[in-house]
Amino acid sequence: MSTEAGTQDGQELLEAVARRRNFAIISHPDAGKTTLTEKLLLYGGAIQQAGAVKARGEQRKVTSDWMELEKQRGISITSTVLQFDYTGNIINLLDTPGHQDFSEDTYRTLAAADNAVMLEDAAKGLEPQTRKLFEVCRMRQIPIFTFINKMDRPGREPLALLDEIEAELELTPWAVNWPIGSGEQFRGVIDRRTKEVVLFSRAERGKQSEERHLSLNDPELLDLVESDLLEQAIEEMELLDAAGAELDLELVHAGELTPVFFGSAMTNFGVRPFLNAFLEMAQKPVARLGHDGPVDPLNPDFSGFVFKLQANMDPRHRDRVAFVRVCSGRFEKDMTVRHARTGRAIRLSRPQKLFGQDRAVVEDAYPGDVIGLNNPGMFSIGDTLYVGPKVEYEGIPCFSPEIFSWLRNPNPSAFKNFRKGVNELREEGAVQILYDTDESKRDPILAAVGQLQLEVVQHRLENEYGVETRLEPLGYQVARWVNGGWPALEKVGRIFNCKTVRDAWNRPVLLFKNQWNLNQLNEEHPALELSAVAPVVSGVEPISL
Ligand code: G4P
Repeated sequence: MSTEAGTQDGQELLEAVARRRNFAIISHPDAGKTTLTEKLLLYGGAIQQAGAVKARGEQRKVTSDWMELEKQRGISITSTVLQFDYTGNIINLLDTPGHQDFSEDTYRTLAAADNAVMLEDAAKGLEPQTRKLFEVCRMRQIPIFTFINKMDRPGREPLALLDEIEAELELTPWAVNWPIGSGEQFRGVIDRRTKEVVLFSRAERGKQSEERHLSLNDPELLDLVESDLLEQAIEEMELLDAAGAELDLELVHAGELTPVFFGSAMTNFGVRPFLNAFLEMAQKPVARLGHDGPVDPLNPDFSGFVFKLQANMDPRHRDRVAFVRVCSGRFEKDMTVRHARTGRAIRLSRPQKLFGQDRAVVEDAYPGDVIGLNNPGMFSIGDTLYVGPKVEYEGIPCFSPEIFSWLRNPNPSAFKNFRKGVNELREEGAVQILYDTDESKRDPILAAVGQLQLEVVQHRLENEYGVETRLEPLGYQVARWVNGGWPALEKVGRIFNCKTVRDAWNRPVLLFKNQWNLNQLNEEHPALELSAVAPVVSGVEPISL
């Protein structure tokens, strides 16, 4: 390549990276993730582009029909990534599967995200699924933007919601806007930076509310908003100002300070200001840690890693898709890349971009984007693909499973296929496999984050490996890895109210019936360090069945 061409490519890459923002929404079911996503896509025009504007009811129906179909086939439906343009920027929304398809993929998606939007229901505050997902964001120190939703309905005190974030997540909240009243008396928000008031007007259900902007000093405001509500909001803002924290972007990018926005996704109130502020403050695709140090997204050589595998997404084709997060360089269709784990060269001839259930072939992609690759069983979670000098990204850790079940094979003559299926599905990352410490109990224990994961494994064993299996649930709900491994465990001697098993790398894992039993162990043996996430093991072959 000539120097001139190289400079031009470098400039193109620089611009592409500067325009990109990627994020995932972390929330508990019902907080309004679907509603917020729809509103965000509307701004980007993505819904029209994909021809998917439907009445909400109809859309729901389509979605649930699809889900039913997929469930019968044991497939998880997820849109995975939605890309849209907004004011000249390209936004990638990585969809975190939730609800009944909550699985380890939900956590893994966060490994591919540069930012997270923490969505709370104003009436509920922090909820369990959000806390768990937050822990994963914390581990990676990704910036968190908080959207407190459903302000049009009676909710908790805004100050109490901020206190909860600070006390429970040890994350400093910084309210970017402040609500005037709430529920029936919700009148709008005041932008703390510009002192501009955005008034809320209640629209009929299903219609968009209007946003009217006024200065806080505008005398007309008192004709439009009850003075007591306005005074209360101003007093509360003064309290926040007196508390002193500043909106420090460095702290935001370090995942220590969260900008907070109040709004109502359903009525589309506060969504656009949120999106604008997010674009201004969010982290652009940043350097990723590889085995030999950080890899700059502006490095001209393409590299990326697999963060999710999905089997049989398209009911018409029995295909498998590997989702790759682009980390550096420009990806081009038909590119030949190297697969770091096996050293093999692979030509990527049919890369795809996905929009819900629609797909399009991608011509190119840049850091922060996600591409879908056909996966004829070659890719595993965490695999790196690269061009040029070798790059290998740190893999994706194992996340604490919550559902455990013996996997029985009632037919001894099918053992060979059973073994092959279990080993391959584990390798692919479809499920974690644990083993009893008593070697006479040879059946594997499936360990998953969501029930659907187990159903998918059973379904795939039957369809792809021809073995019918039986699940026998174990009554445990919490798993913890032991830091320091077997020697650390031996030091504390006999422990009660938990079961010790081994993972595929022969590391001890403790299973507890409930959180209470775990807390009890922590109290009895404070020196025993336990972890909800297990680091990636490299260079060691896992135990096969
Ligand atoms: P999820 O994906 O996080 O599970 O939540 P989803 O968007 O499906 O929203 C859950 C429910 O909360 C929906 O009501 C939705 O309309 C409602 N909702 C979302 N945002 C707001 C908001 O800002 N204000 C109010 N008042 N409600 C909101 P639903 O009754 O389950 O469905 P639908 O009949 O409205 O479609």
